Amino acid sequence: MSKQILILPGDGIGPEIVHEAVKVLACLRDDFGLDIDLDEALVGGCAIDAAGAPLPEATLALAREADAVLLGAVGGPKWESLDIAIRPEKGLLGLRAGLDLFANLRPAILYPQLADASTLKPEVVSGLDILIVRELTGGIYFGQPRGVRTLDNGEREGYNTLVYRESEIERICRVAFDVAARRNRRVCSVDKANVLESTELWREVANRVAGEQADIELSHMYVDNAAMQLVRAPKQFDVIVTTNMFGDILSDCAAMLTGSIGMLPSASLDADRKGLYEPIHGSAPDIAGRGIANPLATILSVAMMLRYSLDEPELAARIERAVEQVLDDGLRTPDILSPGATEVGTEAMGDAVVAALRAAA
Ligand code: IPM
Ligand code: MG
Repeated sequence: MSKQILILPGDGIGPEIVHEAVKVLACLRDDFGLDIDLDEALVGGCAIDAAGAPLPEATLALAREADAVLLGAVGGPKWESLDIAIRPEKGLLGLRAGLDLFANLRPAILYPQLADASTLKPEVVSGLDILIVRELTGGIYFGQPRGVRTLDNGEREGYNTLVYRESEIERICRVAFDVAARRNRRVCSVDKANVLESTELWREVANRVAGEQADIELSHMYVDNAAMQLVRAPKQFDVIVTTNMFGDILSDCAAMLTGSIGMLPSASLDADRKGLYEPIHGSAPDIAGRGIANPLATILSVAMMLRYSLDEPELAARIERAVEQVLDDGLRTPDILSPGATEVGTEAMGDAVVAALRAAA
């Protein structure tokens, strides 16, 4: 039976970059026999404009039925003044919660071809290959109570709650240990156990899970130190497992080690490996509509989709090789441009990846 893929282009550069990733999917379908059906729906700001809500019921229903979801990006200045409860970002958070996508895998890989693009010294980042496993459906992003209240003296107070249940910590740690078993067998759990009880529990549960997996080395690090170590000596890490908010922050930091956030894909998985795949960069409203956004992170997200949700590791590897090929050929969107390279726009980059896929067929 065909696998159902739901496409959610979203806002800003989302539609442009997703358009190129869909070309890659269509090429795999037409030339490599991948049995897929594509459907499309609204999420984010465009859904607010067209349907009055960032995550229309119809979109969530289609996402529930799909085998995998590909998302571009959501948000932009047009919707920033809306109440936080109905902003475009709520569409993404609603998908994560509604599909129980608790495990967010964010690889940070430095392509040798892009060593110059990093702001860090080449010797610090060359060969970098780390994977951040971010808890995605719990913690302070979803904890109750939350809100803004007025105190007796009339002053307003904003509050959020950082909560983690043992079962939530356990399942994300298991994912981290599972992926580490297929990498360099080292997991660093990042917390703030010296200050926050919820992450003191996190550390205890991580140790318990480690007890079940004797062949994986577990270490612990406070989040402030982890932020420092990521820019001081990032290659010390293999897999990092951490809370929703710490993972949000550290994954942007890790992305910049690689030179461009425009290169990094992500997978958000449920317990059955159904997933939502998206580039980790945002909707980049400043360059939207100009045809210069880098589509490679979205195309690499398709590779992750093939590997994790569609069980097609060989096709995933083909996409990754095709991306390497276009980088070897010197093609660069402006965000990764370096002297001597050939500057191309979004479409030309997507076409080049498709051509490289076909050439290697
Ligand atoms: C991310 C983004 C989102 C997050 C926003 C857009 C809600 O920053 O995926 O990292 O904070 O999780
Ligand atoms: Mg983020």
